[in-house]
Amino acid sequence: MNTPINDFLNKYNDSGLLRCHMPGHKGHTLDEADWLPYAIDITEIHGADSLFEADGIIRQSEENAAKLWGSADTLFSAGGSTLCIQAMLAAMKLEGRRGVAVRNVHRSFLNAAALLDLEVDWLIPDYSGGILSGRIDPEKAAKMLDEKSFLYVTSPDYTGAMADIPELSRVCKEKGAMLLVDCAHGAHLPFFETNMHPIALGADICCDSAHKMLPALTGGAMLHCSKPGYRDILRQCMSMFGSTSPSYLIMDSLDLCCRYVSQRIREDIRRSLHLIREFKERFSGQLLFTDGDPFHITIKAAQSGFDGRVLAEEMRKNGAECEYADRELVILLMSPVNTTGEYIQLSHVLAESLQNVPKAAPAALEFTLPVPEQVMSIRQAAFSPSEEIPVTSAEGRICASVKVPCPPAVPIAVSGERITSQHIALFQNYGIDTVLVVKEGGK
Ligand SMILES: Cc1ncc(COP(=O)(O)O)c(C=O)c1O
Repeated sequence: MNTPINDFLNKYNDSGLLRCHMPGHKGHTLDEADWLPYAIDITEIHGADSLFEADGIIRQSEENAAKLWGSADTLFSAGGSTLCIQAMLAAMKLEGRRGVAVRNVHRSFLNAAALLDLEVDWLIPDYSGGILSGRIDPEKAAKMLDEKSFLYVTSPDYTGAMADIPELSRVCKEKGAMLLVDCAHGAHLPFFETNMHPIALGADICCDSAHKMLPALTGGAMLHCSKPGYRDILRQCMSMFGSTSPSYLIMDSLDLCCRYVSQRIREDIRRSLHLIREFKERFSGQLLFTDGDPFHITIKAAQSGFDGRVLAEEMRKNGAECEYADRELVILLMSPVNTTGEYIQLSHVLAESLQNVPKAAPAALEFTLPVPEQVMSIRQAAFSPSEEIPVTSAEGRICASVKVPCPPAVPIAVSGERITSQHIALFQNYGIDTVLVVKEGGK
């Protein structure tokens, strides 16, 4: 596969042209940072195209990506899925659509909703193992949708669980609603033997963080759409939120990801699936795992008789850093580029850790999220004067900006909602001690 962005950057660097343009480092490496790729960190010079008006090397690379991901159009983002989410929600706002969102959204959705003053109705999933994941009932979704709405789903979610996209797509089509998928955790999904990517399964617009599941630099993401004709509006919306100086290093890494995907990913996925199966089999007598994307190895710690936080701490001592851990879950996030040796190492670390971790099983978390009482709009609450108070004194107060640890950045109470004792119990379960609430009297 050709790599137009990478070719341009290397050619430009080899040309020796004097850089009378940004950035200020002029391609020189600082002594103390000689490993940083200053040489190919450029700006929108002649021939380098421009992300939000791409019709040259960036466009060519985006077209390569669209072919690989099977979309009608793909746009690059150097601002992560966060920027893609802002763009797709802005496009929905321009179409005058109301949002129906499955509640386990990432914080980036809420921030965008606040910036755009978006109206959102929450679809509460049937939770399993905490607030991160739950089954979505398509019939419930159907009742909330119409031709002036969109459905927003996170799939895979933070634990790797995947929604029934074909069924949700059917429901959305029936109602004339758009289906938007936050697929930040699923850039690799088209390249399994069976394509599991939301675009292939019927989503209209979807974002992938290439930096999460593919070897892209942090911030590299893609916004795919399955309908032709959305490119210009999505690009315009992206430019409303994105920096006017998107990083060429990030775009270069997306370009090279396309080559990696076209040449090697399928083989890497086949090899990895075998290793993941062996890994899980080794621990099958001791640990339970969730279903979903195989590269999210999610241990049901509490149900296996452990406190996930203690297990993760022990794994850190023994040489492996987990993606995320709470009482219920430990998430080991792997990717197609992990080597056989790394799976062997992980297996040793986990085996050793399990020998040292006490079987002090906390009871599995049972909870119901209260039916949200929206007292003011997300935007109004997020931009109101606020104060940070202990969660223990928050009952009855209105949630201002959402303050949740990242990862996983999934909200318990949302801006504008009244905080109840059930929220407070959940905050405490997730180790959240303080919340931002709207100041009373508006001061
Ligand atoms: C489910 C989900 N959506 C969106 C995002 C935002 O993605 P990015 O970090 O690429 O901006 C994240 C980040 O962790 C995420 O987990």
